[in-house]
Amino acid sequence: MNLQHIAFIMDGNGRWASKRNKPRVYGHLRGAYKIEEVVRWCALRGIKYTTFYAFSTENWKRPKSEVNFIFGLLEKKISKFYKRMEKEKVRLIFTGRIKEIGDNIYNICKEYEEKTQNNDRIVVNIALNYGGRAEIIDAINKIISNKLNSINGESFRKFLYAPEIPDPDLIIRTSGEKRLSNFLLWQSAYSELYFTEVYWPDFSEEELEKAIEDYKNRKRRFGGIK
Ligand code: IPE
Ligand code: IPE
Ligand code: MG
Repeated sequence: MNLQHIAFIMDGNGRWASKRNKPRVYGHLRGAYKIEEVVRWCALRGIKYTTFYAFSTENWKRPKSEVNFIFGLLEKKISKFYKRMEKEKVRLIFTGRIKEIGDNIYNICKEYEEKTQNNDRIVVNIALNYGGRAEIIDAINKIISNKLNSINGESFRKFLYAPEIPDPDLIIRTSGEKRLSNFLLWQSAYSELYFTEVYWPDFSEEELEKAIEDYKNRKRRFGGIK
């Protein structure tokens, strides 16, 4: 089975909290803890790459208090995550329009990317202020400023945020929504999609196992015939 990269659309934090009569942000807090667990479960199964959709270019539409909470949480979590995962040789990559979030987050992201750049056992990509369309537009703008007048699939890839990460084999979305919500539009061309009703803070190792089992039974043809 070829399964190198799983990308997660971590959805349902707000509903998870509302169901418990808690504020939405409590769901984000619990959801943030889940990332580390999922990285470990994937690493145990030999999956080298994981991507987590943490904040979309459309999530700015939310109340300022919720947006600030999410970025505040992130600021606190990155260093803790790094300390706990140091031994595991995790490389951290942040993809998205990070600069637009603000200097503080940008500097933290750069700091941990640099600190972990020589680790290659597991690669964790956090998609932050990420949009699939924004990524394609940013790539095109880089191409224009490089004055290239022709491009193909392979050369285009080099202008994406993280060309070294292979396309996701499997995309898992929690919370029952069945859409991509602007996630990895270029990279998901041949990804297998898996949807579960479980809210992200409740995502478990059993759920991951179910998704992988399902994936194992898919026939990936990439347009060819088997
Ligand atoms: C996903 O959970 C986290 C982010 C989008 C930041 P939501 O906050 O979207 O939770 P629901 O979908 O409203 O329940
Ligand atoms: C997608 O979830 C974005 C993230 C998980 C970060 P949303 O909750 O923003 O997606 P929609 O609005 O339901 O499509
Ligand atoms: Mg949502």
